[in-house]
Amino acid sequence: MYNLLHELPVDLGERSYPIMIGEGLLGECDLSGYVGGSQIMIVTNDVVGPLYLEKAKACFPGKAVDSVVLPDGEKHKDWQTLNLIFDALLEKRHTRKTTLVALGGGVVGDMTGFAAASYQRGVPFIQIPTTLLSQVDSSVGGKTGINHPLGKNMIGAFHQPEAVMIDTDTLQTLPPREVSAGLAEVIKYGLIRDTAFLGWLEETIEPLAACDSKALAEAIFRSCACKADVVAQDERESGLRATLNLGHTFGHAIETYAGYGNWLHGEAVGTGMIMAADLSAREGLISLADYDRVVRIVHRAGLPVQPPVEMTPEDFMGLMAVDKKNIDGKLRLVLLRALGDALVTSEATSQNLMATLKVFSQPQS
Ligand code: NAD
Ligand code: GLY
Repeated sequence: MYNLLHELPVDLGERSYPIMIGEGLLGECDLSGYVGGSQIMIVTNDVVGPLYLEKAKACFPGKAVDSVVLPDGEKHKDWQTLNLIFDALLEKRHTRKTTLVALGGGVVGDMTGFAAASYQRGVPFIQIPTTLLSQVDSSVGGKTGINHPLGKNMIGAFHQPEAVMIDTDTLQTLPPREVSAGLAEVIKYGLIRDTAFLGWLEETIEPLAACDSKALAEAIFRSCACKADVVAQDERESGLRATLNLGHTFGHAIETYAGYGNWLHGEAVGTGMIMAADLSAREGLISLADYDRVVRIVHRAGLPVQPPVEMTPEDFMGLMAVDKKNIDGKLRLVLLRALGDALVTSEATSQNLMATLKVFSQPQS
């Protein structure tokens, strides 16, 4: 029998949906109540499929379940791979009543969501995230899309899922590097909104990085609660939701520069949060002691603390110029007003920004 630990609502009026968090849900928990029609297309990849596809199929008793297996990796988060989903849907004659199911990490989740947003002008989908990063962040909130060679997640749509089912047992097969990458987004919630959570993370980061199930379940619950609250207040990112992008402007530049998949998204966000904290300190918003706390927690999570050594300030500036938060050519950044309190601003001085970029373009001692 499965053990449902938490059920959290994402409160979006008629588009509200539950986040179910538990152990042993895959294969046991019946999700057919979230499916309107009779057809299901499970989208997964060639790493997750062999591990969990059969169990995922068992979550939809009485439905006609098809599946499509994509090549694994961030470098495949593109049009060509997205088309494999449409090929499968059309070959198997899926109608507007079909439901897509994303079984995998954030890459599969973002692409499946985007396919669902656009197939026959929009069909429902369900998220079954299997990485820590996707369980704490990407499966919740309805941001879907693919990358463009010139910028991360540049093509996409908002499309909320019908339900999110998080089976924490799936994390036991996740490589340690991916666990650390997920912790970057967990730390983010502590830094932008919740100092008590940050304090808990500082006490618990080693068990979390070592994949302790009880600690991870608590971190997932608190992260999802934070994300659900932000999304409920600002679904389309007109203000508050942009704070969830702490470290992402620097991070997306690193990911794009390094070539998609060479730096994991969470690794780039971890270093990006340190850079954002450095700039926050230069702007006089946080103290150097606070900056050190940010560096320490990111480092203890097993994440890199500086960008690729050969990356120059000019590389950063060129790549950050295409960030989605920018308005009228003005760079907008998420900074820390204090630990546990973030702001979105275009007011950071160019001198301070250049100083941050320069200091991180040199090997750190
Ligand atoms: P990912 O999807 O590439 O998964 C990481 C690796 O783990 C892959 O090789 C995957 O096949 C493998 N994997 C997945 N589950 C596994 C399991 N249980 N056991 C063993 N291996 C497993 O990467 P990710 O970190 O999950 O997601 C990163 C993506 O999410 C990025 O593209 C990023 O842009 C996106 N993202 C989106 C949002 C959003 O709001 N939509 C938020 C954050 C990140
Ligand atoms: N990961 C940022 C967001 O969902 O808004």
